[in-house]
Amino acid sequence: MDINTAIAEMHRAVTLEALQSLKVHYLGKNGLLTQEMKALGKLSPEERKERGRVLNEIKQALENAVRGREKELEAQALQSQLERESIDVSLPGYAFPAGGTHLTSQMQAELLSTFRRMGYSVVEGPEVESEFFNFDAINMPDWHPARDMQDTFWLKDSGDFDVMGPEGERVNNLGGLLMRTHTSPMQIRYMIEHTPPFKIVVPGRVFRYEQTDASHEAMFYQLEGLVVGPDIAMSDLKGAILELARSLYGAQAKARFQPTYFPFVEPGAQFALWWPEREKWLELGGSGMVHPNLFKAADDYRQKMGLPRVYDGMTGFAFGMGIERLALLRYGIPDIRYFYQQNRLSFLRQFKN
Ligand code: PHE
Repeated sequence: MDINTAIAEMHRAVTLEALQSLKVHYLGKNGLLTQEMKALGKLSPEERKERGRVLNEIKQALENAVRGREKELEAQALQSQLERESIDVSLPGYAFPAGGTHLTSQMQAELLSTFRRMGYSVVEGPEVESEFFNFDAINMPDWHPARDMQDTFWLKDSGDFDVMGPEGERVNNLGGLLMRTHTSPMQIRYMIEHTPPFKIVVPGRVFRYEQTDASHEAMFYQLEGLVVGPDIAMSDLKGAILELARSLYGAQAKARFQPTYFPFVEPGAQFALWWPEREKWLELGGSGMVHPNLFKAADDYRQKMGLPRVYDGMTGFAFGMGIERLALLRYGIPDIRYFYQQNRLSFLRQFKN
């Protein structure tokens, strides 16, 4: 047995198992060194003493070599285990897909908060509407040419559902059922149920039976406004729209009104907001002073329900605007169909808030 070879072998062992078998080979019960130890008995006392001392030193040296290598291998094993199990905190984490607020909802929220600040209440109305509230009661009787301006989705009156009148009362003679073509029927619904003065805005979906293209959708959102009181004037309307412009586009914003016709207002005006940053006018919607026929219709209806007439001597203004339109103009979106068709996430994600 050569001690140097033995020690070199131990240093070369690359696993703890290999080292263990070398240990058995040299130091085990039948190991080479152990055999030499056993052979000591055959020697004379003097030889035995000397040989015994040498063998003990060899044993010490081998045991030291085993222990030293053992420590090295254990350290290596620990090191590689740490490497294997370590967490690289610089790796990107898992993306947890989370929803976002749809662009239309963002715009709507912005508009509503502006009007809430001005003291308006927010109310909503039914999407399935009666011919009466969508048209007749707001000064568009069935012979009225303006009815054709808004192509209508008519519903088959299956008798399965009714459009309730204000205060949930079932009303006959409300005409056919339709998908509301604008949020204006809420003007009359609200007036029937409430006593002036009041200021409301009404966000909601509206429906038009028409060919869709880049600027027309069969469904879109409007925001309706209605303010009624003892002496509401056109200047109040202008003030409200100007305030909207400033809240959207800052102190430099302006509002512009141009005469136009809507049956439910007189005079009527389309309005545009001046966007100073881009130096352009944004045509947003229609507005005007509430037509006296609406006050009359509201009071007549109230009277039928046994409620007092409350609109004598009242005046008011109303406006209506497209919510998507505001986003289209603000972000330069080329096609209104991107909003809802195909639920196009690549489009919507650009506006994730
Ligand atoms: N209802 C009209 C439309 O849908 C907008 C409007 C509302 C105009 C109120 C005047 C007053 O186009």
